[in-house]
Amino acid sequence: MICLGIESTAHTFGVGIVDERGRVLVNERATFTTESGGIRPYKAFEHHVLFAEFVLKNALQNSGVKLSDIDLIAFAQGPGLGLTLRSGAVMARTLSKLLKKQLIGVNHCIAHVEIGKQTSGFKDPITLYVSGANTQILAFAAGRYRVFGETLDTGVGNFLDNFGRLLGLGFPAGPKIDELAKLGKNYIPLNYTIKGMDFSFSGILTNAEKKIKDEREKNNGKISDTFLHDICYSVQETVFAILTEATERAIAHVNKKEILLTGGVAANSRLQVMLASMAKDRGVKFKVVPRELAGDNGAMIAYAGILAHKAKVTQSKQSLAAPRRFAALETKDTAIIQDWRTDQVNAVWVK
Ligand code: ATP
Ligand code: FE2
Repeated sequence: MICLGIESTAHTFGVGIVDERGRVLVNERATFTTESGGIRPYKAFEHHVLFAEFVLKNALQNSGVKLSDIDLIAFAQGPGLGLTLRSGAVMARTLSKLLKKQLIGVNHCIAHVEIGKQTSGFKDPITLYVSGANTQILAFAAGRYRVFGETLDTGVGNFLDNFGRLLGLGFPAGPKIDELAKLGKNYIPLNYTIKGMDFSFSGILTNAEKKIKDEREKNNGKISDTFLHDICYSVQETVFAILTEATERAIAHVNKKEILLTGGVAANSRLQVMLASMAKDRGVKFKVVPRELAGDNGAMIAYAGILAHKAKVTQSKQSLAAPRRFAALETKDTAIIQDWRTDQVNAVWVK
C-alpha cells in the first residue's frame, strides 16, 4: 500500500509518499520564510497556493510513483492556521475524488510523534514534542496520547521566532539562535517559569525584550555581538532547562524507559544535549527524530495515515470526537479542525 500525505498546517506545504512498511519514498516541501518579521497567515496561504502543484509534481517525479499507484490520500486536518490547512485539504479532497481513493485526515501533532516512534524504534516513549505552535509532553495511556505537561501560552518554536524577531533575525529564527548561542559565554539571568508540569514563555519574552532594550540604550541603539551571543545563549539555557526539567518529572511519574524528542525544535543542538544528559543520568534511552523529518513534512502525515488506515480508522468515524467549526462550508467529514488537540484522538493503532 502506498500513501500520499499532504502537510499544510502552517509555514510548510509538503507532499510525502510512504509505503506500507513506513519507508519514506519521497518527502518534498516548500517553506514560507521571511528575512525579517514573522509569519502572516495570508502570506503563507498565498505561498502554498503558488507552490502546491510544484511540490506535488516533484514528489511524483522524484519518487517515480505514479498517481495511479497511490492507494490512500492522507492530509493534515488540524491543528493549524485555517487558511493554510484549507490549501492542503482542497488538494487532498480533489486527489481523493479524481483517483477514487480513500481520504484520511491526520492530526498533525500525532504525526510528529508517530514518525519519531518509527525512526527511533521506540514502542512506548515519553515524547517531548516541540514545534512552532505546540510544546507538549506526551505519553500513551488508555487509548490516547495524553498530555502530561504543556505550554500555557506559545509553543517554544514561536517563542524563539518572536525572540529572534526582536533581534531582526527573520523567520524562522530557531536555527539562527541555535548557532549564535554557541558563541555565548555569559549567562544573563532570565525568569524561569515552570508551574507543576506546565510551563510558559511569554514572561521570558518580556524579560528578554527588556534586556535588549537596555543594551540598545547603553550602546547608541545598537546591539553588540557579545550581547547578541550571550542573550541567545541565555534564552536557550533557560527555556531548554525548563523543558528538560518537566520531561524528567514526567518520566519519573510514568516510569517509561524511552524519551523521544520530535517536532521542528527537535533539530536544536543544545536541547538535544540537555535531554541526552538527563536521560543518561536516569538510565533511560533517548532518541531524536532525524532532521529531515523534524519540521513539518508530508511524509509524517502519510505515515500516520497508513497507521490509522491499517487500524481500520475511517474518516467519518474519527472526526466525530473533535469540534468542527466550519463544517457547513466544507465536505462534512473532511472539514479542517483548527484546534484539534492531541488528546482528542483515539489512537486505536497503538498497541
Ligand atoms: P506545529 O507542529 O506546532 O504545527 P510548526 O508547524 O510551526 O509547528 P515545525 O516545522 O514542526 O512547525 O517547527 C517549526 C519551528 O521549529 C520554528 O519555530 C523554528 O524556529 C523551529 N526550529 C527549527 N530548527 C530549529 C533549531 N535548530 N533550533 C530551534 N528551533 C528550531
Ligand atoms: Fe509541526
